Amino acid sequence: MSRISMTVDGVRYDDDVDPRTLLVHHLRERLGKVGTVVGCDTTNCGACTVLMDGQGVKSCTVLAPQADGHTVDTIEGLAGQDGKLHPVQQAFHERHALQCGYCTPGMIMAAVDLLAENPDPTEDEVREGLEGNLCRCTGYQNIVRAVRDAAAVMRAEVPAPRESASETVEGTAPTSTEEVAR
Ligand code: FES
Ligand code: FES
Repeated sequence: MSRISMTVDGVRYDDDVDPRTLLVHHLRERLGKVGTVVGCDTTNCGACTVLMDGQGVKSCTVLAPQADGHTVDTIEGLAGQDGKLHPVQQAFHERHALQCGYCTPGMIMAAVDLLAENPDPTEDEVREGLEGNLCRCTGYQNIVRAVRDAAAVMRAEVPAPRESASETVEGTAPTSTEEVAR
């Protein structure tokens, strides 16, 4: 077993894991972060995308011990503490950018990463930025519109400072969303 420590959605977790555990399985099965989904397990679909130290990664291609000492953000930590949706979440809602919703967590996290690097992407740049994420419902047109809408909203916003981790969870999965809320 490997002892690992990571901060997920603003909460620090210390756990013993089998070194072969994939980050996506650690997030879902140990930490209860089931908003991050597995679509393929072969690095193709992007459904499992999370941010590691702010960079989008496919969590089915990262071993949990590789996240030791790092910060991970998932779809479950994206909304504000008051429940206000992140601009990308809000834009997906308003633009009807999801159908079955299976690709949506990964699409949104990839979009957040894209907009951090390019706050004003063209349509082509959005398509290029999200090319590692597949939508089997083929809802791409509305996804592109949503990302560009969110970009406009985010450019107009003053960025709020991110809160630091304030809680440590030892060993076991949380028992309620309140326990892991930022
Ligand atoms: S589940 Fe990770 S890329 Fe498909
Ligand atoms: S909305 Fe169904 S896979 Fe994208």
